Amino acid sequence: MKRSLASLDAASLDGRRALVRVDFNTPIKDGAVTDATRIIAALPTIEYLRGKGARVVLFSHLGRPKGGPEPKYSMQPVVRELERRLGAPVTFIREPLAPEAVTTTRRLPRGGVAVLENTRFFPGEEANDAELARQFAALGDLYVNDAFGSAHRAHASTEGVAHLLKPAVSGFLMEKELRYLGQALDHPTRPFVAILGGAKISGKIELIEALLPKVDEILVGGAMACTFFRAMGLETGTSLVEADKVDLARALMRKAGGKLVLPSGAVIAERLAPGVETRAVPRDRIPPGWAMYDIDHLTEQDFGARIESAGTVVWNGPMGVFETPPFDHGTLAIARALARATEHGAVTVVGGGDSAAAVAQAGLADRVTHVSTGGGASLEFLEGRALPGVAALDDA
Ligand code: 3PG
Repeated sequence: MKRSLASLDAASLDGRRALVRVDFNTPIKDGAVTDATRIIAALPTIEYLRGKGARVVLFSHLGRPKGGPEPKYSMQPVVRELERRLGAPVTFIREPLAPEAVTTTRRLPRGGVAVLENTRFFPGEEANDAELARQFAALGDLYVNDAFGSAHRAHASTEGVAHLLKPAVSGFLMEKELRYLGQALDHPTRPFVAILGGAKISGKIELIEALLPKVDEILVGGAMACTFFRAMGLETGTSLVEADKVDLARALMRKAGGKLVLPSGAVIAERLAPGVETRAVPRDRIPPGWAMYDIDHLTEQDFGARIESAGTVVWNGPMGVFETPPFDHGTLAIARALARATEHGAVTVVGGGDSAAAVAQAGLADRVTHVSTGGGASLEFLEGRALPGVAALDDA
């Protein structure tokens, strides 16, 4: 257990500069934030600190700039979005390493908020450079990490600074993520069903290995199912198959016993395009020249029934190419099954990234127990790996 922001008494926050690592790595189009989910998710921590009279200094990476400033990755649009959400002015610190930056943070009013320019504009960030961490640490009197989505990165702003600026505590979003994901993994109400999808089995091997001893079933969808089909000796047409992972898929199936549940059928097409001619076929009837782009209706029903009778559900990865309709059908059906399971009292947790986007697209984000704000981070957590951004925080 890590020390929580809630454990710090009010006097230790009043007038102090709270340096808060958030994950404001949000999509931006034409200079505006197009999905504010991660900003909204950090508001409880920001509002709490403001309410206690802290001077709130927020910092985050945005995108993957190449170690130097790139205007398209500036935090400026995030500052405007945050101002709208808070209904209060936000100071933008464009040069966080300039000596005036320290003065700016000290001159913030009590309850005032500032945002630093993109942490990845500094070459030392991803190298976890100690000098950069020290410069970040000079901008606060205490450190709060609320960036669950970046907790799997050992960077200067997520890991290095936590060793230098004390106390170093977890924010409310970080706590919530760790609680829901941790409870699902360690104390699941059974049956415990995991749903895994996505294109490739290669990125999910460790996850399958880690989940097998814990879950009752793993439902597999997405193109990764085709590598398993090939391991069963089935024709997979032009479907995406990782030829070098077929033996591994066979070994995983043997190890899993009956726990690995594959689609019984596929929605196929000759090419991937919106509105293209499709067919639904049993999994052993994929013809040469055709590829699987979604699970079929019977699989939707089968997976749906298993999800609805589960006590705990964890979902990571889409069932098909959901960004290209009609191949979104299976993924949206799974999202609806999760919502129904939640209504029946199941704990349902959606990993970030594509599955979170699918739940949002289906308008069901409020009807599942928890949607993680972390894609890579939730994957690594479910794989049982320690997250450096969490490990570096003070113990409770
Ligand atoms: C994410 O979007 O998953 C996090 O913000 C981490 O971003 P990164 O993969 O560029 O480190």
